[in-house]
Amino acid sequence: MDLDLDGLRVRTLVAGDADLVVEATRAERRPALWGPRPAGPYSQDDARAALRAWEAEQVSYGVLDGPRLVAALGLMPSGPGAAELAYWVRPERRREGLGRRAVRAVTAWAHAHAGLTRVWLEIDPDNAPSLRLAESAGYRYEERMPRHCRTWAADDPAQDVWHDCLIWTHEASGRRR
Ligand SMILES: CC(C)(COP(=O)(O)OP(=O)(O)OC[C@H]1O[C@@H](n2cnc3c(N)ncnc32)[C@H](O)[C@@H]1OP(=O)(O)O)[C@@H](O)C(=O)NCCC(=O)NCCS
Repeated sequence: MDLDLDGLRVRTLVAGDADLVVEATRAERRPALWGPRPAGPYSQDDARAALRAWEAEQVSYGVLDGPRLVAALGLMPSGPGAAELAYWVRPERRREGLGRRAVRAVTAWAHAHAGLTRVWLEIDPDNAPSLRLAESAGYRYEERMPRHCRTWAADDPAQDVWHDCLIWTHEASGRRR
């Protein structure tokens, strides 16, 4: 992927982009796109490991404003024609409409060029910004899955606390629910 989003560039992230991830997560205090750890700024090693892990089975895309990474999105295949979409905007650039623009663009690209008929989101019911973004980007609420998502309070799934998740979907034109 390499898209022009009204002056922003959206492109696939690769292992060599670790510097961008380190710079973009400097002000983060919670988990970023690539997983529950670290919950905060990424070191070079964290960034290299995360990008390598994503390259194996999933794809992460960066939104660049000039030389800086301002947002990242990830597509995680989940069966024929379907993938989960995850997103993150760097803390200093939230509430500028970046998330909505990027989610709309990557969703449209996924339908048109990646052969995906269904793109879906998994959202914590307490994540008001993400819920608002999902609706604003044209996704539809589908269902609540009880105790489906981890809080990552513990590494062992059996010891972890699990919470409900809300599933939102976007289907290719003519197939939206
Ligand atoms: C969720 C997130 C991506 C939103 O990105 P963003 O660029 O700030 O969102 P936008 O500026 O495009 O706003 C989209 C909509 O959400 C609303 N919104 C954004 N932040 C909000 C907040 N803190 N509280 C309430 N509404 C909020 C905006 O007002 C806008 O609504 P509108 O279209 O009705 O005007 C960002 O907060 C983030 O990276 N959070 C941490 C990672 C995360 O939670 N990812 C989602 C996991 S499911």
